Amino acid sequence: MLRLSDVNVKFGKTPVLRDVSMTLPAGQTLAVVGESGAGKSTLIATILGLTKLDKGLITWANVPIKACRPSLVMQEPRAAFNPVLSLRRSILEPLSAKREVISETRLGQLCDRLELPLEMLDRKPREVSIGQAQRAGILRALIAGSPLILFDEPLSALDAVTQKHTAQLIADLQTELGFAALIVTHDLGYAAAFSDDIAVLREGRIEELTPTPAFVQNPQSDYGQELRAAAFALGALEYVA
Ligand SMILES: Nc1ncnc2c1ncn2[C@@H]1O[C@H](COP(=O)(O)OP(=O)(O)O)[C@@H](O)[C@H]1O
Ligand SMILES: [Mg+2]
Repeated sequence: MLRLSDVNVKFGKTPVLRDVSMTLPAGQTLAVVGESGAGKSTLIATILGLTKLDKGLITWANVPIKACRPSLVMQEPRAAFNPVLSLRRSILEPLSAKREVISETRLGQLCDRLELPLEMLDRKPREVSIGQAQRAGILRALIAGSPLILFDEPLSALDAVTQKHTAQLIADLQTELGFAALIVTHDLGYAAAFSDDIAVLREGRIEELTPTPAFVQNPQSDYGQELRAAAFALGALEYVA
C-alpha cells in the first residue's frame, strides 16, 4: 500500500502541497483529480523523490517509498523519450541501470500486448505516432517491474479514440500484472470510469478521498460537487452515473 502521511511541499515560501494524506492499496487505482495548478504534478514528483518534503512521510508497504522505485508514465509521450535515441535504448534504460536484462521473447510478448511491432522500437520518438509513443512509455514503465506506476495525465495528449483505447489498455494491464496505479488527471470522466477511489486536490489540499461509485453519486466536498456538475455538463459522466 502506498501511504502519504501529512505531506507538505513548498516552492520557496509558497506551500504547494498542504497536509496531504492518502492511501492506495496494492493493485488498485487511485485517481487524483484537480484543475491545472492544483499540485498534481508536484504530488507525482514528490512520490518519485524528485521534490523535497518540507514535512511528512511517504511509504510503500510500510517502508520509505524509495525502496519501491515507482515508475512514471508522462503526459507528453514524445517528450518523455530522449529524441536522439531509439525507443529501445530508452525503454531498456531502467533495466541497464539495474544491470538487468530482458529476453527478446519477453520483450516481444510485452510489445504484442501493447500493440507495438517489435521493429518499431528501433525508431526514434518522432518517427512514431503519439499513441504509439505513449504505449512505448507504458512499456518502459512495465519493464521496470515496479508494483506502483504513476501516470501524469496519461491521456491528455491523445485524440479521443486513442484515449479510450489507451485507458482500457492500462486497466487491462493492471488486471493482468497487478500493479497499483496512481493516475492524476483533470478528466473526471476518465477517473470515474477507471478508478477505485477518487481524491480531489485543490490548491495543494485533499478536499476528499471517496470510493469512486460514491463520488459519482454524491461527492462529499463542495468543490467535488462543482467538479461533478462540470463533468455532467460536458457529458463526461453520462456512461458511469
Ligand atoms: N519548480 C517549481 N517552482 C516553483 N513553483 C512551482 C514549480 N513547479 C510548480 N510550481 C507551482 O506549483 C503549483 C502546482 O503546480 P503543478 O504541480 O504543476 O500543478 P498541476 O500538475 O496540478 O497543474 C503551481 O502554482 C505552479 O506554478
Ligand atoms: Mg501537471
